[in-house]
Order: sequence, then C-alpha cells, then structure tokens
Amino acid sequence: DALTRPKDLLDFSAYGRQEIEALLALAERLKRERYRGEELKGKVLALLFEKPSLRTRTTLEVAMLHLGGHAVYLDQKQVGIGEREPVRDIAKNLERFVEGIAARVYRHGTVEELARYARIPVINALSDRAHPLQALADLLTLKEVFGGWEGLEVAWVGDGNNVLNSLLEVAPLVGLRMRVATPRGYEPDPGLLQKAGAFFTHDPKEAALGAHVLYTDVWTSMGQEAERERRLRDFNGFQVNGELLQLLRPQGIFLHCLPAHYGEETTEEAVHGPRSRVFDQAENRLHTAKAVLLRLLS
Ligand code: CP
Ligand code: NVA
Repeated sequence: DALTRPKDLLDFSAYGRQEIEALLALAERLKRERYRGEELKGKVLALLFEKPSLRTRTTLEVAMLHLGGHAVYLDQKQVGIGEREPVRDIAKNLERFVEGIAARVYRHGTVEELARYARIPVINALSDRAHPLQALADLLTLKEVFGGWEGLEVAWVGDGNNVLNSLLEVAPLVGLRMRVATPRGYEPDPGLLQKAGAFFTHDPKEAALGAHVLYTDVWTSMGQEAERERRLRDFNGFQVNGELLQLLRPQGIFLHCLPAHYGEETTEEAVHGPRSRVFDQAENRLHTAKAVLLRLLS
C-alpha cells in the first residue's frame, strides 16, 4: 500500500489506478461515516495561497480539523512568494514548522519547486496547469451518480484549462471517456488529450450529444483577467445552458467546479436546475480532501 503512495500531489503523473482507487474508496467511507478522527493530531498543514479560494481553502482547513490536526493560512500579501522570499527558501523554512504544504499558485513550476526542496508532502491546491483535488471530488461525484467510471462519457465544453487537464490525466486511469470541445486556440495539453484517447472537436453540440456528463468552468481563469474581453468574444457559442444540456442522455448531469461566471460559461438555471450535481460536487471536495490528507500526512 505504502508503495503506491507518492510523496506529493502536484498532478497525477506519479499516480496509478491503484492509488486513485484507494483514495476514492477512502473518501467514500469518510463521507458515509461523516468521519471525525485523531489521525493527524498535532500535525499542521500550511496553506500557501497566491490566489483567492472558497472551496479549496475551507475544505482543507475543515478536513484538517476533522482529522485532529490544524491548518495555518498564509496569504501572498504576507509571504510574498518569489517577491519577499524565493520559493526554495520558503520550502526550507516551512518543512521545519509544519507536516505538509497545500499551495495555490500562478505558475505550476512553483509547486514543483516547493516539492523539490521541502521534505514534507506538497499538495497542489490549483496551479495554471492542474487542479488534482478538484478531479478527485469529480470522480467521487460520478461514482455516486453512476455507480462507477468505466465507459462514462464526460463532455467538457469551454476552456482547455487546469481543471480539464487534471480530468484528462485521471480519465484513462479509471476508464472515463472524455469528449472535449474548446474554441480554436484554447485547446488543453495535447499530450494529455492524446493519452486520454479523448474525442476532440471545436463544436460544443458534438461533444455534448449523448454524453453522461456535461462539465464546464470559467472562460477567464484567475490570472487571465487582462484577456477577458478577447476571451468573451472567442468563447461565444460555448455557454452551457438548458439548450446544450438537452443534448445529454436522459439521465445526464451537469458539473461545474465553481465559482461560476453567470451569463458567460453557464447560467443560473443550469447550476440550480434538475440536472445539476454542482453542490454535491462541491461537498465532495471535503471528503476527498480528507482522503488525500490521510494518505499523504499520516
Ligand atoms: N473549485 C475550486 O477550487 O473553488 P475555489 O477556487 O473556491 O477553491
Ligand atoms: N480554472 C479556474 C478554476 C478555479 C477553481 C481558475 O483557474 O481560476
């Protein structure tokens, strides 16, 4: 068991099917039992965040509390990652104080550097390239709705961003079939697209037709605000609304990692409508965060 467990969770490149299944089975049990325990008693997780967060920060803090540990939140104004102090020095300090680091950063290279220099586990709490904690919550949600992953068709309509990259990376490990539609110029990592054996198109309807799941995310991610006007033009026609959701199979569901930019990538009707599992998905961030912390920190 310990052999399948990598030191960090930066993306899924060091993860195999076995470890993903172990994490998800643990998350399911923790959710069922509304688990409270003492496994991480006396342990501290540093939350090193360059960008804002509702779900990721709260679920990591609450998960630490439910496992008997504690979290300290360190925001960019105080720490000044790469400005007040280089990443390597931050890593070599934090490892003396705490048992783990969860970092939300602009450049993926920053979490890689933290992991290289800190001898404690580093968890990617969102970088420009990946959002593995989100993908784990998404897998739990799919398991709950459909009973498993093998052969499920997951349509992604929108930006080829961090959230999509992590889904593409985990998809072949559990047998998800990805159907991706992005505008030209907004394609995800081509290597991940290929490894996932994903169907790719520039037509949202073609991706959505007959799928089990329709998933989208904001068109302008944190850090891309200067591109907003251009993105609004380029993503015209990619909104996930009632019309697009009708193309799913009858039991098809809608997912969104949140926060939503209503009137852009989706609508209030879609997020609060009958096909939406968006808030179960958000809840599952807590249970999967607990599983990750137990596997990496105990
Ligand atoms: N989905 C997600 O990561 O949300 P936050 O940005 O609020 O953490
Ligand atoms: N793609 C979004 C996800 C936020 C959870 C971003 O990076 O801002």
